[in-house]
Amino acid sequence: MVRYLDCAATTFPKPECVLARMDEVNRTLAVNAGRGVYREAREAAQIIDETRKRLADLVFSDASRVIFSPSASIALNQILRGIEWKAGDVVYLSPYEHNAVSRILYDIQKKMGIRVYQMPLKENLEIDLDALWYRFSVEKPCCVCVTQVSNVTGYILPVKEIAALAREYGALVVVDGAQSVGLLPVNIGEMGIDFLAFAGHKNLYGPFGIGGFIAQSEYELQTVLTGGTGSDSRNLAMPEKTPGRYEFASPNIGAVAGCLEGIKWVQANQKELFRKEEQLTQRLLDRLERIDGVHVCRMAEGKQIGIVSFWIKGYRSEDVGLILDEDYEIAVRCGYHCAAYIHDWLGDIEYGGTIRASVGWGNSVEDIDALTEAIQDLAKG
Ligand code: ALA
Repeated sequence: MVRYLDCAATTFPKPECVLARMDEVNRTLAVNAGRGVYREAREAAQIIDETRKRLADLVFSDASRVIFSPSASIALNQILRGIEWKAGDVVYLSPYEHNAVSRILYDIQKKMGIRVYQMPLKENLEIDLDALWYRFSVEKPCCVCVTQVSNVTGYILPVKEIAALAREYGALVVVDGAQSVGLLPVNIGEMGIDFLAFAGHKNLYGPFGIGGFIAQSEYELQTVLTGGTGSDSRNLAMPEKTPGRYEFASPNIGAVAGCLEGIKWVQANQKELFRKEEQLTQRLLDRLERIDGVHVCRMAEGKQIGIVSFWIKGYRSEDVGLILDEDYEIAVRCGYHCAAYIHDWLGDIEYGGTIRASVGWGNSVEDIDALTEAIQDLAKG
């Protein structure tokens, strides 16, 4: 059995209760929720309502603000393309953003003439809040995009502090919670977040095919994706109210049911999950740092969770990934991790990006030790 250390890409394996519930729903309730008055269609719709409620509870929001979509990337398209941009509008994004944010903004920049700036970092690769405060005063933000946890280094970004600075200018705060929702506590109102994207298949321990966003803001996004909603069918416009306004097409009921089970499981185990990831992350950092010829991307204490990036001098990172797979049966992700900007800051280009190990509930100390022993072998040459 492979030692899976790629939980930042997707958590695997999923808890048994998630798999069992998906199997049950796929066998008995895989009908088109909200599109029929028969019992099964109503029951399927109830599963969606319950999931909405659970997610809202998890982030201290309201169920009417939870919008489902097939993935966090689609949700981020709905958010960012739903803003009514004007040429010259200023957007700041953190250099840690995933391309699910950066590429959308790049596209909008080309089409609409908005200005997109990276937030400044300090030498230790944390967001430089003082410099950001100054930058905002020079070029006022309309919108600020920030991931809560970097998918490359596991850095926990200071979302609340960034949001507070942004709100001084009335800027919209868009948070990519793909790596964090389920793992870190989120109080969407207290943190000053307008829109929060989430992924079902990562730290909510659900399957692929379910994600979405929470529209905490009163700002009304344009509907960039439209289609059938199962309601008010003779009206060509999308419904006025959330969530229906942004939800289109047949719901993926099996995935929603799996996600609901994942959320319940996460809520029951949240502290333990966090503690486990913290301990494994720490062990990985400590052991890798002792190996000569290995550079480890370590953030300050308490500011990194679940993910460790590193490289070995003399190796292309993807070659290390192949060797780990073929000779050691260890699965990690190598390269640039769909994050365009941060590698210039890390200085890993000559290695073809980083080797990234990321942990979840299924990992053990033995997995960490197997990886670090393998890296030690390779670093010896
Ligand atoms: N965004 C996922 C990752 O970081 C796929 O690997």
